[in-house]
Amino acid sequence: MRTISIINQKGGVGKTTTTVNVAAGLSRNGKKVLLLDLDPQGSVASCIKQETSKNLYHFLVEHADLRECINHIGMNLDVINADASLAKAEQILVGEPNRESILARAFEDVTDYDYILLDCPPSLRLLTQNALFFSKEAFIPVSTDVLGYDGLIKMVQIITEFNQVFNHNLKVSKIIPTMFDSRNRICKEMLNRIYAEFSSSLATAPIRVNTKLKEAPRAKASIFTYDPKSSGAEDYWNLVKGIIADEKMYDSRIPKEERKSALRKHFGVRKIQIEEPQQAVEVLVTHKFSKYGWTTF
Ligand SMILES: Nc1ncnc2c1ncn2[C@@H]1O[C@H](COP(=O)(O)OP(=O)(O)OP(=O)(O)O)[C@@H](O)[C@H]1O
Ligand SMILES: [Mg+2]
Repeated sequence: MRTISIINQKGGVGKTTTTVNVAAGLSRNGKKVLLLDLDPQGSVASCIKQETSKNLYHFLVEHADLRECINHIGMNLDVINADASLAKAEQILVGEPNRESILARAFEDVTDYDYILLDCPPSLRLLTQNALFFSKEAFIPVSTDVLGYDGLIKMVQIITEFNQVFNHNLKVSKIIPTMFDSRNRICKEMLNRIYAEFSSSLATAPIRVNTKLKEAPRAKASIFTYDPKSSGAEDYWNLVKGIIADEKMYDSRIPKEERKSALRKHFGVRKIQIEEPQQAVEVLVTHKFSKYGWTTF
């Protein structure tokens, strides 16, 4: 199983669009997917057909039966929605002990999915912390503009700090450039900066600007149903294929040593000298430059 937060504290960069279409694409490849909306704006709900009135709030706070909160969208895709009540949940749960692991504990027994995808809100409050704590991986969609690039660097730093504070090992496993317009100079510049900074094994091909991606939610459909010939469908399908190809590095059902060796093969390793203690350590080469230091992700 893989648990993946789709996260960026910057708003409007394509988190929800990416989560919904990646979930749809994975399920079309025969993967069993659970999509959790963690955003009190409830954007996922506006992209899909609703079957149940219960949502994540009812599951987390009122301890409703999980089955009552799940929307079955197609054969392999389940969705748990959110709405404004989730903000109330946050206020209630903030007083709980070990509050960063509420979500992880609530979903402890949910193991019959290939993928759990978490659509995060554009904030770093309690629910987002819970998403990060629950997840083993993070996908960071990043808009190909100046602010988007700055937000990406911040996000990577935040995840590094989060891992230190909570002794967690969340790996950034995809950086997804979005809203890419090849006629726009800034977009091209920013895409090149992303590729200059991060390993090409981490930063994916860009998702192009495509109005069909804006229209699909109105039809309550994924881009693959709404317009399979669109560039949006092509870009998200390629992304999905890349995600599936990464399973050997991240799927918890594969033995740890095998995953570790696949990671090293994929990214390459580099020895860095650290001062205390005086020895060299090996890090995966995910960054290409030294401004932020070599990090293991
Ligand atoms: N590649 C794209 N081309 C054109 N429009 C897009 C693309 N990706 C997303 N959009 C549109 O941009 C807007 C913001 O996208 P989305 O809601 O996915 O971002 P978000 O990061 O989830 O936002 P928030 O931070 O508010 O949750 C939406 O109207 C969406 O339809
Ligand atoms: Mg969103």
